Amino acid sequence: MDLTLLKSLYNIEAVKLIHEFKTTDSTNQRAKEDIRDHMEDEDWLLYSLPALYVADIQTAGRGRLGRTWSSDSESGIWMSYLFAPKLSPEKIPSITLLASLAVADAITEYAERHKYAIGKVQIKWPNDIVINKKKVCGILTELVAPNYVITGIGVNANTKEFDAELIDKATSLFIESGYEWSRETLVYLIIRKFTDLVEEYEKSKSLDFIVDRYNEMLVSMNEEVVIVNSVSSGTSEPAKTFTCKGINNTGALLIEDNSGNISTVSSGEVSVRGIYGYV
Ligand code: BTN
Repeated sequence: MDLTLLKSLYNIEAVKLIHEFKTTDSTNQRAKEDIRDHMEDEDWLLYSLPALYVADIQTAGRGRLGRTWSSDSESGIWMSYLFAPKLSPEKIPSITLLASLAVADAITEYAERHKYAIGKVQIKWPNDIVINKKKVCGILTELVAPNYVITGIGVNANTKEFDAELIDKATSLFIESGYEWSRETLVYLIIRKFTDLVEEYEKSKSLDFIVDRYNEMLVSMNEEVVIVNSVSSGTSEPAKTFTCKGINNTGALLIEDNSGNISTVSSGEVSVRGIYGYV
């Protein structure tokens, strides 16, 4: 990866160190070991954070809910951002929503600038970016106690084709647009947008400033969804359906049952599925 553009992030202190890997197990894992090893080292913290980890290839990419993340080729963006947000612990899960918005905005801006015709970029709460109902990006946010956050972002940028088990639910920016995308430019745009959003959130302590924009991009807004609990999935109970009513200003998803009762779900252990499949 050519780091020239990314190094300009030093000037605005969005990043203090960039760790670049040709091949590594997982950029989230690299960030996690670094912070665990240096948490007591004030100088390290001062001169190293926020830190960006980028890899051409991951040999053990991780997804949400214990899944694996296919990232064994140089075609994608595999990156993690390690930082210490000025936020209380209960606000940390919202960071995933900010990252989703940053990625969706970055892809949209890049496509507009280059006049690439792609379908609408949408967000599947809480952490997937989808185009034409297929996943193009996943986000895995991890908290390392007491207050260090690793936001791992995987974007299928220039993947030409997917294996049989992913073909129905995954896509890439190349497949959608017909063009190769600059990974460097996208990483740059994502980090700029993400750090701006985090700064705004640190100031306002509420997601009010993104709720409308997020819901406008939400893939199942006002549609029927089922909530899949990772603990209870696999039971034979028929799934109950709800209408998706968007997020509130804490980042929880509002769902309405058949009787019109609205409840909320938090992102921790659930996935949302459309009634016909992934979206
Ligand atoms: C998901 O959709 O389940 C989240 C996928 C997150 C993948 C990224 S790729 C960079 C970073 N390193 C990892 O091991 N995972 C994240």
